[in-house]
Amino acid sequence: MHSRLRWLIAPLLLIVFLFTACQGVMVTPADQQQEEVSTELNVLCTPQVEWCEGMKAEFEKANPDITVNFVRMSSGESLTRLRNERDNPQFDIWWGGPIDSFVAAKQEGLLEAYDAPNMANIKNPDLMLDPDHYWVGIYVGSLGFATNEDWLEENPGVEAPTSWDDLIQPEFEGQIMVAHPSSSGTSYTHLCTVLQLMGEEEGWEYDRQLAQNVLQFTKSGAAPAKFVGQGEAAVGIVFSHDIVAEQEAGSPLVLTFPQEGTGYEIGGMGLIKGAEHLDAAKKWFDWALEPETQGLGPKYDAFQAPTVEGAEASRPELLEVNLIDYDFLWCGEHKKEFVDKFTNEIAGAENLKK
Ligand code: F6P
Repeated sequence: MHSRLRWLIAPLLLIVFLFTACQGVMVTPADQQQEEVSTELNVLCTPQVEWCEGMKAEFEKANPDITVNFVRMSSGESLTRLRNERDNPQFDIWWGGPIDSFVAAKQEGLLEAYDAPNMANIKNPDLMLDPDHYWVGIYVGSLGFATNEDWLEENPGVEAPTSWDDLIQPEFEGQIMVAHPSSSGTSYTHLCTVLQLMGEEEGWEYDRQLAQNVLQFTKSGAAPAKFVGQGEAAVGIVFSHDIVAEQEAGSPLVLTFPQEGTGYEIGGMGLIKGAEHLDAAKKWFDWALEPETQGLGPKYDAFQAPTVEGAEASRPELLEVNLIDYDFLWCGEHKKEFVDKFTNEIAGAENLKK
């Protein structure tokens, strides 16, 4: 009886032993995929193209085995693109653009959560970090007004605007430029600022009146600063750091802020769900949250304030203004509804300039 049992157990033990040993060295196709190291990274880049180019060059210097391909696209356009590519994503990471769009993208299941070690560097996690880690803040910037100095000289008695109400006065008829909220995050920040500051009913009425004074809606948020600098219109509603960048480039612009309060952005970053080069995208994600990386902005004409400890704002005065208590969650969750309302009731998005 004993010896028969031994004959039965011995082969069984051998099988168990071989199986366990093989487990240690067996490589499944899934493992192979995980171990593959990406040599490319596709970045959807929403800040100004100079900064995107600079970040590409800096990242490639720090990661010589990875080539970065980027496309610069405004926030609203980026969101539409991500929606359209949902089943076959072409980008690995989205870097930049106000977080309202990242809130919307998270809501629509377009982003991938990531517990990045460098999230520990974030100065104000309550404000700048999604509680589920689908997005994180990478810069901060306030909305301002850019007025052409030459136009002011040619129009004595007219002052650069210091209130939202100034923009709807007759002296600025046909003289205002701002982007369209369907394509631009800057413009959406403006729209949602007005709705929060004045309340929805009054805010929409204000926007209707403002549209009467708008010469042209542009595609990209920073474009009005350029056009106003060239004298195409008198006033642009633009992020203040983009106005500073134009001033630095020699444009005759005066920067002012609405005294009753202005809106601001937290620029976001998030991994794209289903990204092909997730490993490389995570490297960018961590790298973008290092103080040294965030300190690079001014080198590439970007004057937004950093979001991580150890990196100092190059223009702290741009945030030392009357900022409203902007509700990013509310604005993000209502983005589609508000943009559709604006497009249907105030200004269509066809024929946008630049
Ligand atoms: O880099 C310029 C910038 O103003 C960013 O601060 C901002 O997030 C982004 O452009 C918004 O671009 P757009 O309004 O074109 O979506």
